[in-house]
Amino acid sequence: MKRVGILTSGGDCQGLNSAIRGIAKGLYEYYGKNVEIYGIVDGYRGLIHGEYRLMQPEDFSGILTRGGTILGTSRQPFKLMRVVDEETSIDKVAEMKKHYAQMKLDCLAILGGNGTHKTANMLSEEGLNVVTLPKTIDNDIWGTDVTFGFQSAVDIATHVIDCIHTTATSHGRVFIVECMGHKAGWLTLNAGIAGGADIILIPEIPYDINKVIECIKNRTKSGKTFSILAVAEGAVSKEIAEMPKKQKKEAIANLMYPSISYKIAHEIEEATGQETRVTVPGHFQRGGSPDAYDRYITTLFGAAAAKLIIKEKYGFMTGMVDGKVVPVPLSEVAGKLKEVPTNSKIIKAAKDIGISFGD
Ligand code: F6P
Repeated sequence: MKRVGILTSGGDCQGLNSAIRGIAKGLYEYYGKNVEIYGIVDGYRGLIHGEYRLMQPEDFSGILTRGGTILGTSRQPFKLMRVVDEETSIDKVAEMKKHYAQMKLDCLAILGGNGTHKTANMLSEEGLNVVTLPKTIDNDIWGTDVTFGFQSAVDIATHVIDCIHTTATSHGRVFIVECMGHKAGWLTLNAGIAGGADIILIPEIPYDINKVIECIKNRTKSGKTFSILAVAEGAVSKEIAEMPKKQKKEAIANLMYPSISYKIAHEIEEATGQETRVTVPGHFQRGGSPDAYDRYITTLFGAAAAKLIIKEKYGFMTGMVDGKVVPVPLSEVAGKLKEVPTNSKIIKAAKDIGISFGD
């Protein structure tokens, strides 16, 4: 009997259930009744506390289009994994290993983002058999061209910008649509381009507020009555970006506004006199059904993960490189961030059609 655990960890996104389905179908197809699949509840939290359940084949039916995760998820910071809980004296790593052994697992399939991959790599180094799948709307996992959840989030953020366009035009206002992404600007960049934003601000390219204002004033001069900005929640001004690390952290933490977009909106309104509004779609971007592309790649990723398990090829993430699903060593993925390269062709093309990045 083969025994496989599945867990989803970190912030949820579209496509988690379709990926789970892909893994389960691949395993049932190969092993028939000779496989048991254990669903770990709420990610690493369930593995730490021994909360899991034996899944049945019907649990994986009808979930291709369902948003969220049927297993539940939670955030368990990697930096605390090795810290023994003072109150409960729980050694998290030892507990995870204990419950893995208790389920008599041959392998654990882990679906998650960057933090999740650091812990997955640690578990692999601790001797557990692990395969992973790259999940996040941020698209910032190293070793894969694309993560699942990303495209669905781009679709939603683009739809928001589309809707904002009509009201911005009617009122002749400046609008900021704030997209998720603290460290990487992929979502803002892609939705900004797809939605026809005039200015795109991402963490990788610190902005100069004077350049942003100049761009809006130039649009007004040329007869444009409105302007749309797509701003990543992690967008940062040149001034702050140049600060030493500690000071920079403090400056971001002590922002006097609900988020950076509100500060930018205030500065634009002051300098241009034009009414400026902020729209924050927030977790809306992570919700609902996966789009067709995410259903497609999660099914491929799920099938590939099942293949790795069948071949007992552990310690790999299923990545997508140049349109092909490939195994990427976990040790190479963990701890790296895939940022938008500032010399990327996408940015060049956007600048070529007049989109400003505030630099
Ligand atoms: O990592 C995915 C993500 O949606 C980020 O884009 C966002 O900054 C963060 O999670 C929000 O986290 P939480 O759901 O914990 O508020």
